[in-house]
Amino acid sequence: MTPNARLWAVTVTAPRILMKILSIETSCDETALAIVECSGGLKKPQFKVVKNVVSSQIELHRPWGGVVPSLAKREHIANLPKLFKDLELRTKDLEQIDAIAVTVGPGLEPALWAGIEFAKELSKKLKKPLLGANHMEGHMYSILLDQKPGVVQFPAVGLVVSGGHTILVKMDSYAKWKNLGETRDDAAGEAFDKVARLLGLPYPGGPEISKIAVKGDAKAIALPRPMLNSKDYEFSFSGLKTAILYYLRDNKKVSKADLAASFQQAVMDVLVKKTMRAAREFSVQTVFVCGGVAANKELRRQLASECEKWGIAFIAPDNKYNTDNGAMIAAAAYLGKLRKKKYSFKADATMSL
Ligand code: KG4
Ligand code: ZN
Repeated sequence: MTPNARLWAVTVTAPRILMKILSIETSCDETALAIVECSGGLKKPQFKVVKNVVSSQIELHRPWGGVVPSLAKREHIANLPKLFKDLELRTKDLEQIDAIAVTVGPGLEPALWAGIEFAKELSKKLKKPLLGANHMEGHMYSILLDQKPGVVQFPAVGLVVSGGHTILVKMDSYAKWKNLGETRDDAAGEAFDKVARLLGLPYPGGPEISKIAVKGDAKAIALPRPMLNSKDYEFSFSGLKTAILYYLRDNKKVSKADLAASFQQAVMDVLVKKTMRAAREFSVQTVFVCGGVAANKELRRQLASECEKWGIAFIAPDNKYNTDNGAMIAAAAYLGKLRKKKYSFKADATMSL
């Protein structure tokens, strides 16, 4: 191949980088920044994560058994400049950034404001445009991070499960989706956190419960499967938490491992059954799961196994992109821009998907 022919080959095969985004996420208890190269159109978007730094506040909030908004804000303000330094951006790197992206909702209002104010200042200082992003869209699009283009075949059904949300969506494209149903009370992650507290396990409860559940028997304790057979795609997890409260009250000798495993399986049964019912009803080609609870190995394993049975492709993001991170915010901002979404740079605690 002549040198010129080689250059041509590289030019036509390598995806053209359309936007390099520096993204900021502070909606809850993780301060997170990322640099992501975003390319492609709405049909085949592609995201290459160049840097992804996260500072977790878990230890700070642990004594309170949950996230304290005012403390979270103070920590975000202290951590943002430190994380920005951790990105080790030289003048040349800063020049190559095309836009700054920030989560504007949903989340804890004081925490969101910390990121928004920091992003505004940075945008002014670096003279780069500012893009807004919806945190839940970030979770949804996290399935695209570091993936090949065309990874999702439509229609698709996605289970978005985090500490604040449990939503089942039907997606016809990256720009068009429908919320099929969500939780009427506690989110799946919230249920893990509350049950962990009842078991005397530290916050956040999801990783703690799944760790001890490995040693337990998931069939040992009969627990309800709320709304398992309801005809809609709604969820409810608060009754499950109450059932565990009564179980602990009425039983002296309790195996925490058995209770954790039985609780985890009760949640899985509902999540997996409803997701697969939607997958079949809409004859989808892909099922995906995302959000903090998607870090749960059992949930991924059981969904993957059901999908295999039905010949449906299954996708879950790399584990570092399940819990809150900055990279997913760059993806949401980029696709939001392609979808011509406009955000005002004000914290919107209840923004929906
Ligand atoms: O997405 P995320 O980081 O933050 C929100 O946007 O809420 O999700 C955090 C939630 C917490 O409730 C946490 O307990 C749960 O995700 N989680 C898990 C696991 N890892 C984190 N739940 C079940 N199993 C896990 N392995
Ligand atoms: Zn989240």
